[in-house]
Amino acid sequence: MNMQAITSSQEAIAIEYKYGAHNYHPIPVVLTRGEGIFLWDVEGKRYYDFLSAYSAVNQGHCHPKIIGALTLQAQQLTLTSRAFYNDKLGVAEKYICEYFGYDKALYMNSGAEAVETAIKLARKWGYLQKGIPPHNAEIIVVEHNFHGRTTGIISFSTDPVSTKGFGPYMPGYKVIPYNDLAALEEALQENPNVCGFLVEPIQGEAGVVVPDEGYLAKAHALCKEYSVLLMADEIQTGIGRTGQILASCYDAVHADILILGKALSGGVLPVSAVLANDDIMLCIQPGEHGSTFGGNPLAAAVAIAALEVIKEENLTENARILGEIFRERMERLREKRPELVTLVRGKGLLNAVVIEPTADERTAWDVCVELKENGLLAKPTHGDIIRFAPPLVITEEQLHACCDIIEEVILNF
Ligand SMILES: Cc1ncc(COP(=O)(O)O)c(C=O)c1O
Repeated sequence: MNMQAITSSQEAIAIEYKYGAHNYHPIPVVLTRGEGIFLWDVEGKRYYDFLSAYSAVNQGHCHPKIIGALTLQAQQLTLTSRAFYNDKLGVAEKYICEYFGYDKALYMNSGAEAVETAIKLARKWGYLQKGIPPHNAEIIVVEHNFHGRTTGIISFSTDPVSTKGFGPYMPGYKVIPYNDLAALEEALQENPNVCGFLVEPIQGEAGVVVPDEGYLAKAHALCKEYSVLLMADEIQTGIGRTGQILASCYDAVHADILILGKALSGGVLPVSAVLANDDIMLCIQPGEHGSTFGGNPLAAAVAIAALEVIKEENLTENARILGEIFRERMERLREKRPELVTLVRGKGLLNAVVIEPTADERTAWDVCVELKENGLLAKPTHGDIIRFAPPLVITEEQLHACCDIIEEVILNF
């Protein structure tokens, strides 16, 4: 191979800084290998992964079954485009439809593309089935949402870092507060042209914000009353992460449009999908939507293996049980350092700890750097929140070892 060999973390960081766009601010660690819940840096130091690539690696790094499916399919056929059929896509569509209980699936690549797909689907349904006048369809979204980075999606973001300098923004969205059913009902009453309500069952990027019990169920009931599609963005919360196969299951909600990504490939390839029943999915006709790579046979083989692993290894249940242990330990830690750790929240293995900046202005970032020094990788969000989301293959013993590291760092911070 003719690729420049990187021999130190310093060298890797310098080359990225010089040649890469500065659109991220990573924790200063350079990773070269992953296996299960572990990652290794280029100097050979081992870390516990407590981010799971933003919940994409629920099945653990380089899961042998998923890598097996990848390598087998990679030697057979990787891409046909949708100009032709391939012998894997239909099988993967059937598998995911039966897995989540929908008539049809539409595979894409990134999460943002799946969200864009869901938006197009809801609008088309609005015009064809609900009879909304052309160009008048509206989608209700909530404050502090995170659904991706396209110009369409950032049009309804309320985070100035995501939006500032990227206008003009696309019209057709109404933003209401999260976890506020009265605001939802008012927005539905106000405009008969609403076609969809797009929501994360737990807000991930906002800092693992868990709504009141029953919020999603009542929101879905309101949507039904006003003939509006509930679109659940489970890109981060889905596929076992929160201790249910979907976070919507906590409220027994079967969304009209389900949006998945991230762990749909176990972190191996960008694979996303939108699921819906025929009355919605068949609103899109040939030529109206697509992607060169969406539904490619490599992604199809990987997606089936990744979903199988979740079931075969009982990862959803593991997330539920270990999540409770994790929060219990973090609560005990909060009691010991209440001036530093102000809040612990989450569901399953999607958790957040809120860190109050110290008098000498050290923040959650410094806690994460200290955790890294002690062999555990996590990343702050919004300055004061640390998300803790290990791969779901973690054992109880490993989880306790990780809690010991977090405790040690916090108590000595
Ligand atoms: C809830 C949610 N939706 C959409 C996305 C966007 O996914 P991607 O980064 O694959 O485009 C993310 C990514 O963090 C997410 O958490």
